[in-house]
Amino acid sequence: MDARAWDAKYAASELVWSREPNQLVAAELADLSPGTAVDLAAGEGRNAIWLAARGWSATAVDFSQVALDKGSRLAGDLDVTWVCADATAWTPPGPVDLVVIAYLQLPAEERRRSVRGAFTMLRPGGTLLLVAHDSTNLTEGTGGPQDPAVLMTADDVLADLAGLEVEVVRAERVAREVRSADPSHHEHGGDVRRTAWDCVVRVVRH
Ligand SMILES: C[S@@+](CC[C@H](N)C(=O)[O-])C[C@H]1O[C@@H](n2cnc3c(N)ncnc32)[C@H](O)[C@@H]1O
Repeated sequence: MDARAWDAKYAASELVWSREPNQLVAAELADLSPGTAVDLAAGEGRNAIWLAARGWSATAVDFSQVALDKGSRLAGDLDVTWVCADATAWTPPGPVDLVVIAYLQLPAEERRRSVRGAFTMLRPGGTLLLVAHDSTNLTEGTGGPQDPAVLMTADDVLADLAGLEVEVVRAERVAREVRSADPSHHEHGGDVRRTAWDCVVRVVRH
């Protein structure tokens, strides 16, 4: 999907993603001391807003201005800078403590550019956290893109970082529980629990 298609998607509903941060992002980053953070492909900024509420100075980058405008309204006075730019090419003015990439599902070559670019935004000791729909979600999970070319595994992401000074903290497939309304299920008021499969990669720059 290009920026215009994303703009149209964001314009079509009040909130495409949740107001709360992604559960894996929140669980993974809750223990980090605040500093400067980039949320790359931030969408409506749920993760950037969560970080800012915890004392981070966050920059939310996305190529959909519609999404950024929505995030900016939600963020109120919180310390979030909203930047409309291509996540595969944008660079911050200086090194940052943390980069988050959540569900940026790009074909391999663009993904590699965005992942390597994100890593090189970090100061030494800084953290890159990537969460994405895993390749196995297509056959074993639920939701997410149905095009295998934009899915990935943790190993794909580590291969993208080959040759860089990477310390791997975590690189694995992780289950994420999702609830969806399904009127054909009467138990739990039509609320059905399913498992989505994500990959999580957390690395530190040497
Ligand atoms: C699935 S959404 C995830 C949004 C956000 N990270 C979250 O977890 O709520 C993917 C986002 O990537 C953005 N995106 C896709 N390709 C991009 C690119 N090349 N540059 C910047 N943003 C991009 C889209 O506009 C969209 O907001």
